[in-house]
Amino acid sequence: MFDSHCHLADPAFADDLDAVIDHARAAGVQGVLCILAADDEAEAVQADVVRAAWDGVRFSTGIHPHRAGAWAGRVDDAREVLEAAMASRQAIAVGEIGLDYHYDFSARDVQRDVFAMQVAVASTLDRPVVIHAREAIDDTIAILAAGGPHVRGVMHCFTGTVDEARRALDLDFYISISGIATFPRAAALREVAAFVPADRLLIETDAPYLAPVPYRGQRNEPAWVLETFRMVAAARQVAEDDLGRQLAANTLALLPALGTVAR
Ligand code: NI
Repeated sequence: MFDSHCHLADPAFADDLDAVIDHARAAGVQGVLCILAADDEAEAVQADVVRAAWDGVRFSTGIHPHRAGAWAGRVDDAREVLEAAMASRQAIAVGEIGLDYHYDFSARDVQRDVFAMQVAVASTLDRPVVIHAREAIDDTIAILAAGGPHVRGVMHCFTGTVDEARRALDLDFYISISGIATFPRAAALREVAAFVPADRLLIETDAPYLAPVPYRGQRNEPAWVLETFRMVAAARQVAEDDLGRQLAANTLALLPALGTVAR
């Protein structure tokens, strides 16, 4: 079992990181993709602590759409920051990157420029992308499609419709389901979780955010990816053993470096 998206270097885990890692391992989580902000030096320092604490961690880094605005008119500088972060964090993926037209913390044209630049960097480095898209599916798909045939990756914390999932699948992207699928009112997302082809499905926590039922409102942690796993198995009406094997295979197909962790 893997958690394909969490933020273990977040300050929320600084005080009890070892306990959080113990919980994850005890729950059968053998590895996680830890998301880092490329433009956050303090988090990079904590990432070294995380790396030392658990061999099961691999990193992804990128400039989040919420922070894209800081790079208005300086996309070349943002590229340099991203490339340096990819190297220094030994990142195996670029992200999370994308577009957020819900919060609109950054001007949309700047979000698009910074996103497109990062898709190009991922293509050049031959790394997958981890996509954050909120109320921006049209522009997100357009920018990914314009990135060329080598662009591959995952729609993280997918909350769109079946039709929107289909458009991401048309680009051969993976769809990652978060703990939102356990929320009572998330029937539409459980429908998506049942719809996605078995070989395109991933699961994640997005910890410390989005704790699943029955932990809602608490700080989320990678061990609780199990709750999402069980809900997805129920939604798809498949045996948990079979789903577990499939999800592990999918994670390793997208992120082979997670297969090199010690047991
Ligand atoms: Ni995230």
